[in-house]
Amino acid sequence: MRIGILTSGGDCPGINATIRGVCKTAINHYGMEVIGIHSGFQGLLTKDVESFTDKSLSGLLNLGGTMLGTSREKPFKKHGVVSDVDKPALIEKNVKELGLDCIVCIGGNGTQKTAAKLAARGLNIVSVPKTIDNDIWGTDFSFGFDSAVSIATDAIDRLHSTASSHKRVMVIEVMGHKAGWIALYSGMAGGGDVILIPELSYNIHNIGDTILNRLKRGKPYSIVVVAEGIQTDGRKRAAEYIAQEIEYETGIETRETVLGYIQRGGSPTPFDRNLSTRMGGHATELIAGARFGRMVTLKGNEISSAPLEEIAGKLKLVTEEHDLVVQGKRMGICFG
Ligand code: F6P
Repeated sequence: MRIGILTSGGDCPGINATIRGVCKTAINHYGMEVIGIHSGFQGLLTKDVESFTDKSLSGLLNLGGTMLGTSREKPFKKHGVVSDVDKPALIEKNVKELGLDCIVCIGGNGTQKTAAKLAARGLNIVSVPKTIDNDIWGTDFSFGFDSAVSIATDAIDRLHSTASSHKRVMVIEVMGHKAGWIALYSGMAGGGDVILIPELSYNIHNIGDTILNRLKRGKPYSIVVVAEGIQTDGRKRAAEYIAQEIEYETGIETRETVLGYIQRGGSPTPFDRNLSTRMGGHATELIAGARFGRMVTLKGNEISSAPLEEIAGKLKLVTEEHDLVVQGKRMGICFG
């Protein structure tokens, strides 16, 4: 068999480890030929590819980013690298010309949607869930999330220094437009006093009261962790908006930090490296068994898979019943 592999959407720790997991298993265990497709679906439109050998897959396990390059090209949307052509038809033609029996798509929600649409047109597709946001339906965790949480937790730990020394409120903004997984996990692991996520609405007076109550109890500083997608006045970034509102409410000096792309860069954690290796290996197992149109999943500690049409277009969001929210609230942490 001759398979193609691409990475699409935002970069994320563990992509290279997944490429390694897929390709080494495909080449060494199954004797497949592997073609790397550059820059996501863009490379499928322009036939920008390279041939992989076991040697070209060395040094990838702990490497950040994606050695294949990525793009946000959406072949079912008009605009992109090529216009005025039927992009899905062009992909089908190129896949045929490249002699690919299957394409492994590594990506987030947008990628899963495209993968599902290509599969529905009859292409052989297997996908792997990738995102620091952890919001892909059907899998408990996507690789990249643990690394992002680890980076964000370290940042929160460090903010404690300035918060306690200067008796300030420190607001940190982490990624997550629609889903607050990074804010929830890093906020709890970093000992945040207030955690705000897009899924749970907040009342600024409650937040002010929480911070002033801490002051009354001899804790003159607070850590506030916010996801970038929480409700604001629409003009300012989440951290800036919340910091200003808190200072107004409490009169306590408040500073904000936006973690940004730091949480997407660099080396994956050991958990993500092993998850990537397992998911990558399972992807080749699906191909070998001709089980196409599926995304690899993690359920509990079991690697499995689910049909792409069941996953595409859905988001996995935090709920009020999540154990970290329930236990956090009982401990006095404010979720809004
Ligand atoms: O991959 C997810 C994510 O990191 C989001 O949390 C973030 O808002 C988005 O990507 C931003 O990515 P870019 O600026 O590359 O579009």
